[in-house]
Amino acid sequence: MRVVILGSGRGSNAEAILLAKQAGGLGRAEVVQIFSDKPDAGILTLGPRFGVPAAFLDAAPYKTKLDGAGEQHYIAAITACRPDLIVLAGFMRVIKPGFLTAFAGKIINLHPSLLPSFPGLDGIGQAWRRGVKIAGCTVHEVTLEVDGGPIIDQAAVRIDESDTLETFSGKIHAAEHVLLPAVIARLSQKQP
Ligand code: GAR
Repeated sequence: MRVVILGSGRGSNAEAILLAKQAGGLGRAEVVQIFSDKPDAGILTLGPRFGVPAAFLDAAPYKTKLDGAGEQHYIAAITACRPDLIVLAGFMRVIKPGFLTAFAGKIINLHPSLLPSFPGLDGIGQAWRRGVKIAGCTVHEVTLEVDGGPIIDQAAVRIDESDTLETFSGKIHAAEHVLLPAVIARLSQKQP
């Protein structure tokens, strides 16, 4: 199963996927390309470290969505990778119909909350401020509804009295780093 990872940030989840691959824990999945819409994103440093092509891919003209020329640019570059699965691992743009149609049924997203609670930006901060005691992360299929597609799997995290926003964030990220590679491994076993 050929996997393309898209990210905008430090890339700790992409790193977890690549570490799982090294440890033999990614099933039949193989990461063939990493793309980032931010030229200085940490996720791009994973390329040389893990021997995977990693490149900045310009998503202009929009800032918060993948549309117009940027969308066409992404569709062309990703199509050339012949992906079976596209993993949004901290890719901070809203996906539009052109991209969804080009890769129908092949796009999954990681979100740092127990959806349907706290969709959108800053899922961790939203849960923290609401004072929930059980939080977590979700991997779901991408549809036009932001963070609203069918849920594939989730992991729960307990917020203790002693937690701070920082320790809580750490728990969520640790849960994500286990959940996302496990989902990819499972999906790869279903791949024809
Ligand atoms: C992750 O916590 C992911 O759940 C979140 O961005 C972070 C990326 O971290 N995604 C979203 O908020 C999407 N709405 P990373 O760059 O270290 O993998």
